[in-house]
Amino acid sequence: MTIPGSEARLYGDLARWWPLISPIEGYEGDAGIVTEMFALAEHPVREVLELGSGGGHTAYHLRSRYALTLVDLSREMLAVSRGLVPDAEHLRGDMRDLRLGRTFDAVLVHDAIDYMTTADDLSAALRTAYAHCRPGGVAAFFPDHVAETFEPVTDCGGGDADDGSGARYLEWSLPTEPGATTVRTEYTFTLREADGTVRSVHETHVTGLFAVADWQRLLGEAGFHVSTVRESGGHDRTMFIGHRPPA
Ligand SMILES: C[S@@+](CC[C@H](N)C(=O)[O-])C[C@H]1O[C@@H](n2cnc3c(N)ncnc32)[C@H](O)[C@@H]1O
Repeated sequence: MTIPGSEARLYGDLARWWPLISPIEGYEGDAGIVTEMFALAEHPVREVLELGSGGGHTAYHLRSRYALTLVDLSREMLAVSRGLVPDAEHLRGDMRDLRLGRTFDAVLVHDAIDYMTTADDLSAALRTAYAHCRPGGVAAFFPDHVAETFEPVTDCGGGDADDGSGARYLEWSLPTEPGATTVRTEYTFTLREADGTVRSVHETHVTGLFAVADWQRLLGEAGFHVSTVRESGGHDRTMFIGHRPPA
C-alpha cells in the first residue's frame, strides 16, 4: 500500500521510535545551514515558524537562538517534539492550508516538504510559508532531492535507548521514470522493546520530486524572490531560500 506522509505509521503509532530511528545528532548540520540562511533576512530573526516540524530534531538545535512555533500534522510527532523542545509553541496543522493570522521573522520547512507530492500541494505549502513570513523575512526549504540530481539510495541506521529498547531501519528508494514527480521509498523498521520483544514493520512512502525550475517558478508565484543553494561535498543537495520583499 502507498502511504502519503500524513498517514505514515512512522509519524503515527511508531512516532515514539523517531528519536531512535532518526537520531537528533544528524540534524545539527542542517540547523547550522538554517541559521546562515536566516541571517540573510532584512531584520534580525527572532520568531521562527517551522512547518512539518516532526519530532523536533531540527528545532532542538535552533531552540536557544529563536522563539519557535512548531506545526505538524501528526499529534504523535508533536508529542515527541513537546518532550524535546518544551519551550516551543506546538500546534497541529497542515502546511497546505494553515493560516495563523500572524507573521514570523523567518519560516522553515525542512524535510517535511518532501511530502508535497503534487505541484498543487507544493505550491500551497509555499504560499503558507509566504503568508506567515513578514516583509523582509526569509523562508528556507530543504527538499531531500530535486529531479536533476535524484539518485536511488539504500541506507540503514537507527539506535538504542538506555532502557534496552532499540530500532533499526532499512531505506530503499526506487529508480524513477523520466519525468516522474514522485519517489517511492520502501522502509522496513525493526523494533526491539525493552523487554526484548522484536517486530518488523514495512511501509511505502511516496515523496515529491520537482525540478529546480519548478521550485523557482512556484516560489516566485507565491511572491518570494528566490535564492537557490547547492550543497556539494557528498550530499549534492539543493535548497531554496524565499525572500519576502520588504513592504
Ligand atoms: C521527516 S518528518 C520531519 C522530521 C523533522 N525534520 C524533525 O526535525 O524531527 C516529516 C513530518 O512531516 C509531517 N507532515 C507530512 N505532511 C504534512 C503536512 N501536510 N502538514 C504538516 N506536516 C506534515 C509528518 O507528520 C512528519 O512529522
